[in-house]
Amino acid sequence: MAYQPLPFRAVAANVLLAVEHGQSLSQCLPPALNDLAPEQRPQLQAICYGTCRWFHRLEGELNQRLKKPLRKPDRVIHHLMLVALFQLRFSEQATYAVLNETVEACRALDKPHLTGLVNGVLRAAEREGAPQPSDDSSQYSHPAWMVEKLRHNWPNDWQSILEANNTQAPMTLRVNALRFNRDEYLNLLADAGVGAKATRFAPLGIQLDHPVPVDRLPWFEDGAVSVQDEAAQLCTTLLDLQPGQRVLDACAAPGGKTCAILEACAGLAEVIAIDESEARLPRVQENLDRLDLVATLVQADAADIEQWWDGQAFDRILLDVPCSATGVIRRHPDIKLLRRESDIVPLASIQLGLLDAMWSILKPGGRLVYATCSVFPQENHRIIQRFLKHQEQAHLIKIEADWGQDMNAGRSLLPDPDSHDGFFYAVLEKPEA
Ligand SMILES: C[S@@+](CC[C@H](N)C(=O)[O-])C[C@H]1O[C@@H](n2cnc3c(N)ncnc32)[C@H](O)[C@@H]1O
Repeated sequence: MAYQPLPFRAVAANVLLAVEHGQSLSQCLPPALNDLAPEQRPQLQAICYGTCRWFHRLEGELNQRLKKPLRKPDRVIHHLMLVALFQLRFSEQATYAVLNETVEACRALDKPHLTGLVNGVLRAAEREGAPQPSDDSSQYSHPAWMVEKLRHNWPNDWQSILEANNTQAPMTLRVNALRFNRDEYLNLLADAGVGAKATRFAPLGIQLDHPVPVDRLPWFEDGAVSVQDEAAQLCTTLLDLQPGQRVLDACAAPGGKTCAILEACAGLAEVIAIDESEARLPRVQENLDRLDLVATLVQADAADIEQWWDGQAFDRILLDVPCSATGVIRRHPDIKLLRRESDIVPLASIQLGLLDAMWSILKPGGRLVYATCSVFPQENHRIIQRFLKHQEQAHLIKIEADWGQDMNAGRSLLPDPDSHDGFFYAVLEKPEA
């Protein structure tokens, strides 16, 4: 029999099942996209991102509609119904197409005994409309623990953080200052018919009115610009780079900030970019190549300095630690499904361990910038406070800026629906010997 590709809703249900089993969308979506006809790919991508974004809201509704949960081997059909509910509630798809094609997809997934259930649930959903969310987890479509933690940590901002996380992030560029200034590139974009404006805080940032494929960006392949959020761009100003300095980017992949460092200051003595991930490190090289920049790449656990360090201390260290990524949920809505509350304490311990290790290889008089894309104080200013308790000679530099809010030990940016992601920065200096 000829090979029948799965309908895209069935593919989406399988992708969501993989996310439930711990894979990120960036891991499991690309192979699924490759299996589909090119014209169906944007739709699959939109459905997978959208269903993750609204997962907890949709799941609240589905659980109300099911008399009892599906058996474990039928779990994929649970996800198939979430996909259909996402389309009913959040897309312009015609209802009859959603209903009929979801039942088809159920059959294609080899679950013909469940077509009646799927049909009944979706018909009731269509007839009755969306129910009132029964709690804040469904209302804001986040896991309950995240809602609680944000409410506790950000009593005045938790709702706006949750709402911002459910929006679609803008596409933001960093102009390569070695090639163009920002006004020149804004003019090139205008000539190419791409609407854009200068970012408010990052001096080289440009925010597009609408996301576009990078091949619509003038001179992209020649290194004129990179795609990078405005908050992530702020690291170079904080590093206060000067020619002749030896710089370490300790958690570098995919290299957005490594490249920003090299573009921000011509004449650095050397930039070393470390990442422990063998899979991610080549992405740094790809970015360097496109931008025609040079750095020394090392695959290692940065904290294991015996393994990779040559004994020469660094003038500047950027430590962009692995974190919960709760500041970038709008770009990676699968984080809502992947992250567990129990991840935070081990992450904080890795972050503090990395900070201690990097401090030991910073030159006297040198500067270290600690960064996360988290909004949880446990990974942010509390790490800095814990560090300062046992490194009493470390000097915390107060960040004077018009962005974010002062946390006493560093500055936090919360995700802004109109501009930047959620981020945290702290600047530490080592006194001269
Ligand atoms: C937040 S991402 C870095 C993003 C990067 N700085 C950029 O701007 O493109 C954190 C990175 O740290 C890496 N990582 C995690 N633990 C590490 C360790 N112990 N040593 C080195 N890299 C590590 C991860 O593989 C991941 O690529």
